[in-house]
Amino acid sequence: MNDPIVARSGECRVIAIDGPAAAGKGTLARRLAATLGLPYLDTGLLYRATGRRVLDAGGDPADPFTATEAARALTQTDLGRTDLRGPVADAAAAQVAAIPGVRAALLDFQRSFGPTGAVLDGRDIGTVVFPNAAVKLFVTASLPARAQRRWLELTAKGTPASLDEVTDDMRARDAMDAARTAAPLLQAPDATLIDTTDMGPDEAFSVALAKVREMLA
Ligand code: CDP
Repeated sequence: MNDPIVARSGECRVIAIDGPAAAGKGTLARRLAATLGLPYLDTGLLYRATGRRVLDAGGDPADPFTATEAARALTQTDLGRTDLRGPVADAAAAQVAAIPGVRAALLDFQRSFGPTGAVLDGRDIGTVVFPNAAVKLFVTASLPARAQRRWLELTAKGTPASLDEVTDDMRARDAMDAARTAAPLLQAPDATLIDTTDMGPDEAFSVALAKVREMLA
């Protein structure tokens, strides 16, 4: 069902959702997009698919030349691959994501969603990709809560992992995402913080939707 607020305006309406791993961004973004009748882009897939291309070719995801070439060669088919999640893909995505050439190569594709209005989730949507987004949400949760969620996801998929390993991997990836010089994970000054540590998906959605309605009213 299209939301009357969005349908009425006809303007560019980008909703930027940033935050660390397993904070609940994807679930929230997908639901907001469906409710508002907007397209949704999970920008993490772009970095995951780039990392995967490099690994497939036997390359090093930390090598700027190889990773940038892989980002430039990305196709829609790469985004639909079923092997973009899991510890190896996570680490490769974070490595390629630290390379400025990779980020530059993926920028136009992300910005092409602007004119129609869209919901995008990632790390730098409100800071770099759409600094003028109509709504910016920064969704986070404590590390133990996020690690527990990711561990449950992996377990449900039958991927063996210990909670300690998942926590350590997530801590390392958070640190890489926050410390890199190219578009680090950062809350935009004008973003609304939503801490989902003690919230289920329904509550997070209600809080976010109320904010979106307030901002777009
Ligand atoms: O699903 P999860 O939150 O674990 O990760 P993701 O959103 O799929 O992102 C995977 C990795 O891509 C992150 O750890 C970041 O290093 C990178 N990324 C980024 O740098 N910028 C974005 N807009 C989205 C993802």
